[in-house]
Amino acid sequence: MGSPDLNIPHNLPLIATEDLEAVNATLTSGWIAQGKAVSSLESFFVEKYAQGFSCALSSGTSALFLALKGLGIKTGDRVAIPTYACSAILNAVYMLQAKPVLVDVLPDTFCLDPQGLNEVQDISAVVAVHTFGAKADVQKMIDSHVVVEDCCQSVWGADNESLLGMVGSAAVFSFYATKIITGGQGGLVWSRDESLVNTVKDYRQFDGRTFYEPRFNFQMSDIQASLIVSQFKRFETITRRRQFIARQYLDALPIGLSFQKGADKTDAVLQRFVVIAPNVSIRDRFQKHMLDGGVNCIVPIMRFELLHNYLKLDPQQYPVAENIADRTLSLPIYPALTDAQVKLISNCIKNFKI
Ligand SMILES: Cc1ncc(COP(=O)(O)O)c(C=O)c1O
Repeated sequence: MGSPDLNIPHNLPLIATEDLEAVNATLTSGWIAQGKAVSSLESFFVEKYAQGFSCALSSGTSALFLALKGLGIKTGDRVAIPTYACSAILNAVYMLQAKPVLVDVLPDTFCLDPQGLNEVQDISAVVAVHTFGAKADVQKMIDSHVVVEDCCQSVWGADNESLLGMVGSAAVFSFYATKIITGGQGGLVWSRDESLVNTVKDYRQFDGRTFYEPRFNFQMSDIQASLIVSQFKRFETITRRRQFIARQYLDALPIGLSFQKGADKTDAVLQRFVVIAPNVSIRDRFQKHMLDGGVNCIVPIMRFELLHNYLKLDPQQYPVAENIADRTLSLPIYPALTDAQVKLISNCIKNFKI
């Protein structure tokens, strides 16, 4: 693996000249803290959804924490979350001293199983994650639940009828370095509920208040916001490039390897391209085969990272998540990949002997 072309990382941000110019303009403007760029990111979301209110924050985790707080989640409340998910979700629930109630996921989309949700009782809120860009079936949940849509891995998402994030009571976003749109770090809450967003806004900063209440510093800086706003201007190009790369991989997949449902949708907004192998040994062999070919792939969520395993709950209660964790591998899909690299990765996939 001497040549850099033969050591392709799993992820790499694409920072364009326009992004550098936008950040530079902020850096030289005399105002780098939360200011006009943050406001313009917030307005951009309200315009995109053509309604509602939004608040930019320091991370997706703080967005989740504050969205739940804005919904009135408090000590002892039960919050349903998928077990196949980033531990940030668990942390947000615990930060509110609420009680996480873990639910298994669906085998095709890896998103929270609405049927499993029906089987748990006394739920004050649900966090439905649109996993890696697949769509969680929020419509099936909202009649009986208050839902926060976690769009951290699926900005806008693929849905012919509406943008992802519009069905639940609030939507949260992350602009971490590996996300579809990045500011290095960053997050955002969007909701139709003005009082929810006002609660979020009130909590994100503590300075210059006429009355004291415990608050925190969850602000996004204008440096981050100007990078994020600049990247959103290329959203279509970025998304199309990810779709193009996914199509090359789909064409190359040997019989016996499948993929997360939705990756083949022409309007998919994919954060990851996730291959599903028949079992753990083939998955591990596939990962080694890709690495030997110079391609770094990752297991998106390992068994030990499943939230029920962190909480030492009975794994037999979460068979689907256990199965997915053993069989999945995420391939590089970021727009910074060159055509030559995409070809190299596709050939490597094609040459794998199951
Ligand atoms: C589904 C999901 N929700 C929330 C988060 C937390 O976002 P952040 O890393 O910006 O705090 C992540 C993190 O990567 C995530 O994947």
